[in-house]
Amino acid sequence: MTYRRACGLSELEEDTPKRVELDGTPVSIVRTEGEVFAIHDICSHANVSLAEGEVDDCHIECWLHGSRFDLRSGKPDALPATRPVPVYPVKIEGDDVLVSLTQES
Ligand code: FES
Repeated sequence: MTYRRACGLSELEEDTPKRVELDGTPVSIVRTEGEVFAIHDICSHANVSLAEGEVDDCHIECWLHGSRFDLRSGKPDALPATRPVPVYPVKIEGDDVLVSLTQES
């Protein structure tokens, strides 16, 4: 599994998603509840960035229609989205947040 540096841990504010691009893939990096998550940064309902949504209770909410995606699984828990968004494995090494684009679920 190949990990790439996405950003610095110190760049991440709690519950404030950071959008990065890894090999042309948009990824939202989220620090919340003592962990760091990486989720594909396109809603599965329409082509909008999830990084612009709010984070709460380990979910990220799409700002356009309000579907909430679990940051651990990528699964939506509210309509209108019905399909999950890919989530990616994260490793922390020092101040580096490393992400593998291998899909976790
Ligand atoms: S675009 Fe995200 S829920 Fe509709």
